[in-house]
This record gives sequence, structure tokens and C-alpha cells, in this order.
Amino acid sequence: MNRTLHLITKKSILPFMVIAIMFSCQKQKNNSRMNRKVDSLMSLMTIEEKIGQLNLPSAGYFKTGEAASSDIGKKIEQGKVGGLFNIKGAANVREMQRIAMEKSRMKIPLIFGMDVIHGYETVFPIPLGLSCSWDTDLIQQTARMAATEASADGINWGYSPMVDLARDARWGRIAEGSGEDPYLGSRIAEAMVKGYQGNDLSAANTIMACVKHYALYGASEAGRDYNVTDMSHLRMYNDYFPPYKAAVDAGVGSVMASFNEIDGVPATANHWLLTDVLRNEWGFTGMLVSDYTGVSEMVQHGIGDLQTVSARALGAGIDMDMVSEGFLTTLTNSLKEGKITEQQINQACRRVLEAKYKLGLLDDPYRYCNEARAEKEIFTDSNRAFSRSVAAQSFVLLKNQNHLLPLKKQGTIALIGPLADAVENVTGTWSVAARFSESITLRKGLEKATTHQAKVLYAKGSNLYNDAYLEENATPFGKTLHRDKRNADELREEALRVAKQADVIVAALGESAEMTGEASSRTDIGIPDTQVELLKALLNTGKPVVLVLFNGRPMTLKWENEHVPAILDVWFGGSEAGDAIADVLFGEVNPSGKLTTTFPQNIGQVPTYYAQRNTGRPMGKWFEKFRSGYLDVSNDPVYPFGFGLSYAQFEYGEIRLNKTTMTSSDSIMVSIDVTNKGPLDGKEVVQVYLHDEVGSITRPVKELKRFKKIKIKAGETQTVNFILSNKDLSFYKSDLSFGSEPGKFEVFVGGDSQHVKRAEFELK
Ligand code: BGC
Repeated sequence: MNRTLHLITKKSILPFMVIAIMFSCQKQKNNSRMNRKVDSLMSLMTIEEKIGQLNLPSAGYFKTGEAASSDIGKKIEQGKVGGLFNIKGAANVREMQRIAMEKSRMKIPLIFGMDVIHGYETVFPIPLGLSCSWDTDLIQQTARMAATEASADGINWGYSPMVDLARDARWGRIAEGSGEDPYLGSRIAEAMVKGYQGNDLSAANTIMACVKHYALYGASEAGRDYNVTDMSHLRMYNDYFPPYKAAVDAGVGSVMASFNEIDGVPATANHWLLTDVLRNEWGFTGMLVSDYTGVSEMVQHGIGDLQTVSARALGAGIDMDMVSEGFLTTLTNSLKEGKITEQQINQACRRVLEAKYKLGLLDDPYRYCNEARAEKEIFTDSNRAFSRSVAAQSFVLLKNQNHLLPLKKQGTIALIGPLADAVENVTGTWSVAARFSESITLRKGLEKATTHQAKVLYAKGSNLYNDAYLEENATPFGKTLHRDKRNADELREEALRVAKQADVIVAALGESAEMTGEASSRTDIGIPDTQVELLKALLNTGKPVVLVLFNGRPMTLKWENEHVPAILDVWFGGSEAGDAIADVLFGEVNPSGKLTTTFPQNIGQVPTYYAQRNTGRPMGKWFEKFRSGYLDVSNDPVYPFGFGLSYAQFEYGEIRLNKTTMTSSDSIMVSIDVTNKGPLDGKEVVQVYLHDEVGSITRPVKELKRFKKIKIKAGETQTVNFILSNKDLSFYKSDLSFGSEPGKFEVFVGGDSQHVKRAEFELK
């Protein structure tokens, strides 16, 4: 390096070094204060009180299983509770905390958790939708706002981000994560952790994040919830682990173990997973909690009775037992019988107390109970306005033949479908704090947007399913679609009468909110029967039809893609979804979402994802015998990963590389020009993929390595630059060492994973 440059570089990093040293001194000071505080508490605690800290019962506000605990107040008094979840409202939290502070012997504050997953009372789009914004700053802001609202209401611990990579659309919980890609999933994981935790976990408006479900839950066999996961360590390290690790690297305060087994041992008792990898390899020092009855369920898994599985969970590294009360009721005996050690109990108790210290609870137990803040900061107009703008960023325009969209605010619009006015379903799965009745349905959004300009006529058109039993399964927790007693023909005829009066039809169809989320797997991932019949009838009118699709998973839309002129995927957009959909339908907002999961042609292609291996016999475009494919469909998806249209039209130039060879200590710059050829300003997600042409192990045909969401004015051209370094070319090899291998790399840049420009360089 030239000497002047060297000096400049040295000089310019000096202030950063000073800050880093100051930061690390401060951290050490904080740690030693924390250790002193925790030591002094622990020196006074009985073994039973230490075990009590490991107990996390549900207060029952929202149950996902059978709560084993009862009479919680009494247990708090007896020092048998370390934290509570499923309790809502600052005053309620304060009351529980008061019992701990005034009636228990040790007066250790409780930690209060909740499933704050995509917002609190102001709900944002479901995580899968949010990920389609590809805007990590925006996502970070949603987490920040969720934390501000939740912390004003007494909550200091949120069970998010859920970062389970998912490539099987049958799995209902695909809705809760960020899709199929490890790189994008990792960037979103860290953004969410930063958003929830901010820079200071002890601040009254931040909460401790909990990354879940560690690990590999998204790969449950057959897409069936709680099922077995079995995969190679190579795939874990290269594909499924990165988002969890990214959350750990971003400083996540806690981790939740998953329900599934790995290598024959449930995650909750898996020492390799929880201790060897998470703590020893990745350096996680925070608190590890089981999932809901994750400990006691290991009896059903068949690895022992409650005492055995509780001892195994503690031994594997679990600190807090959610709901099972296996720790509470068996660890004392296990200690007496020599099945666990006192050191293991101390370690777990220490981590729970450390979490409380980090949240500032040991200094001020009521820090997060601020009724005045709750009154002022939750579900405010400005929060709702933000949610509306976020929702519009999450929608993905899948088809727009002959520029049917945006619609004009004129004439008569027929709004038809069971999801058009289903207020309980607007916010989607896992919106436990939502104010359902105040959510904006599409009907309300359209009516507001068109007042005095266009007429909106509405008909339900169909139920969710023909079969009432299926509809009942799909609408739990009061998230009803108010099943109509009329039969399918009657409902459809009414809809057709309405449709005939209209200039354009907006069909609001798809899944109900609870057709995805926990325990909501499906073996048919299409739009349900009666709704498709309705859609066909609407298309038969010959009027233009816009399908507004509500869904929490990639769906099979082959027929719809072939027959419906315009399709807008709106997921479940949060409390303000109806307004946001209207914003996009009428072009106030230009859609810019891109899919983060592959949409297959049919269920038989599942699991499907873009970052496949080539195999020794890759299929070409058409079927060929003895190639890797199917007799009946090609390997193509209907919509590929990264895909999404805009009202603008983007064109990509050729890729420019600043060099054609690089070394492992070097980096390479990838540049491309993107032009907006359309008449409207728009946003585009520019995506960079790599393919390692020859490796010691087989490498995916494409892997996302960078992306940038840019705003481009109509007619404008922007040059987008990306820097790739050796780390981006690296992967876990057979011996699980991480590194790159010399050789040729293909680099692809484009607006989705299929339509890309290509260039090549070599790593020397
Ligand atoms: C889910 C978790 C959730 C927990 C607490 C479980 O059933 O798997 O994601 O955080 O319940 O509600």
C-alpha cells in the first residue's frame, strides 16, 4: 500500500479504535457490575428458589397448548416463577410484578414475555410478507415500533424473530419467517434483533429479542408441524443455520429451542445443538428457553419420563422451561439423585438473572409498566400510518396483463370474495395483541379511497371452503369468516348480479389468517374449491378481474396465472391492510415487493427452492427420459424466488466487473445499470447471485449474495455497485471448515432469480 494512503487509513481508523476500546471497557465494567449483582443474589438463594427462576408459566391470555400451571399468583409468592408470558396490559403486568416484589422472599422481578411477532397492537404484515419488502431498514423500524408499543405495555421480552428457513409450502409456519434463502433470512434476522433491542437493552422502550425456533424447524418432514427433521450437517451449516447465527452475531439476548428432533434427539435435549454449536462455536452467552411444553413433550417423543427429559434439557443447555413445569417439579429430585449437578442449576439461574439485569429489571422492576406511556404510544395514528406504508411495500404484483392495474377511481367496482370484509382475518396469524375490530378490511379501504369518485359494490360470493368442517378448522381463535348459511350457488348468483353492474371486479380470495401459522399445514396449497369456482364464474362475465390474494404461504397458482389478468399478492398486511391495498390498487403506491419463496406449479414439486443443486442429470426445458424431473410438469416454478412486478418497467444493462480475477484477500466490484423505462417512478430490488462452478462439494446453481432496493424515477438510469469479498465465495466444506476454493464463479444480476444477466470471474 502507498505510504500516504497507509497513513490516511491508519489515521482514519484511529477514532474508531478509540471508540471500540472505550466500548469494550464499558462492557467489561457493566459485566463486572452484573456479575456482582447476580452473585450477591445467588448467594442468598435456596436451590428451590434458583429452580423457581427457571420456570416460565403462561398467564393464559393466549394459549397454544395446555398450560400445566395454575394458581400463578401463589407460585410467584413462593418464588416458583422466573417469568410470565401471555399477559397483556401494563396494569396487569404491574400487579404480577408487585406480587414478586412484595410477597416473595427474594424479591426478584419477573421477566414478561409475549409473542410480539409482527407488531404489537399496531400490526405489520406477517413476517413472510414483510420479508417481501426486501427492505431491512424498514423491517428494523417495524421491530423498533413493536418494541416501543410492547414495552409501554409491560412486555420486555418478545418471541421473535422467527428465522426458520422454509422451503416446504405445506408447512403453515412458513408464514412466520422470511422465506427460503439463508442470506436474505440472515439480513432480516439481524435487522429485527437490532430493531427490538436497540442499542441499550435496559432502555424502557427496548425489549429482549428471542430468536427461534432453534433449529431447523422449517424442515419438518412432509411439511407437517412438530415433525421430525433429518438433514446433513453440511446443509445445516450452509443453508439452515445462517439466520440463527446472524441473530446471535447481532447480539440477540435469548434463543428458543425448537419442537423438532435433530439426529434423533429433540432440539430441547440436544447438547450438540444447544451447547456445542450455539454456545461454544457461535459464542452465544444469553438465555435459552424451551418452546411451549417443549420439555414435557419429550415424554411423547419417547426419550424418558418427565424427570428424565427435564434433566436432559437442563444438561443440554436449556435455562428456562416454558409451561411444562418439568424443571420446577423434578430438578430437586434429580439433583439429590445425582442426575444433574448444582453447577448446572446455578448456570441456568445465572443466565435468567443476567437477562433480567440486562433489561434493567434488577434496578427497576417496574421499568416497563408505564400506563401513561401505554396510553400515548400504542396504536397511535402515526404508528398506523407507518403500518399502512409498510404493508404496501410487502405486496407482490404477480401479474398485470395490459396494465389493468392501477385502477382508476371511477365507475363501479365490484368487490367480491370471502376475504374482502373479514375484519378478524386482516392482521394474520400471530397477532395476539391486535385490535381486530379496528383493522381495516379491503372493503373499508376501497370505500374510503373512492368516496365521491367511484361506487364500490360488495358481495361475499362464497364461503372459505365448501365443507363447513374445513372452514371451522381454518378459523380458530375467533378469527371467523362468518360462514354464510346460503349454498354455493346462491352466494355465487348474488355475486354475479353485483359483478354485472360493475366495470371491474376485484376478487378477494385465498386463505384465512389461520390457514397458516402454527399447526396449520396443508396438503393442498391452492385457493380452496368454492373460491376457485367463484373466480371462474367471475372471469366468465368477461369483465376485467383483479385477484387480490390473501395468503400466508406460497400457493399453487398455475391456473390463476394462466387465466386471471391481474394478481396482487397481499399476504396478511397488518392492521391497516385495507388502506394499503387500496393505495396499491389505485397506484398511490407503486408495488415493489419481491417473493422470498418459490411458488410451485403444484404440490408435487414441493419442497422447491431456487438454490438447487444441478444433479448429474439436470432436466432441460422439455421432458427427457433419465433426467431429473417429472413426467407431468417441468421443474419450473410459476413464480420464481425474487420475482415481483411493478407499474414501472425496469431494464438491466450488462454486468461490469472491475476485474476478472481476484484473490482471497481481495474483493471484486459488480456493477450494473438499471433503467426505469416506464412512465412511473418505482422501486426495484436488484439481486446478485453467485455460482461456484467447481467445488470440493456440489454447490447450488445460484445463491443470493447481495441485494439493494433502489428508487428509480421514470426514465432514469442508475448504476448499482456491489462489492463481493472472499467471505461471499466461502462455504462450509465436508469437514465443516469454512472457506473458499479457487476457480471460476458465475455472477448473475437481475430483478429475480431467473431473469438475470451473467458474467464470470476467477478466484486465484
Ligand atoms: C410456538 C412459539 C411461541 C410459543 C409461545 C409455541 O407454541 O411454537 O413460536 O413463541 O408457543 O407462545
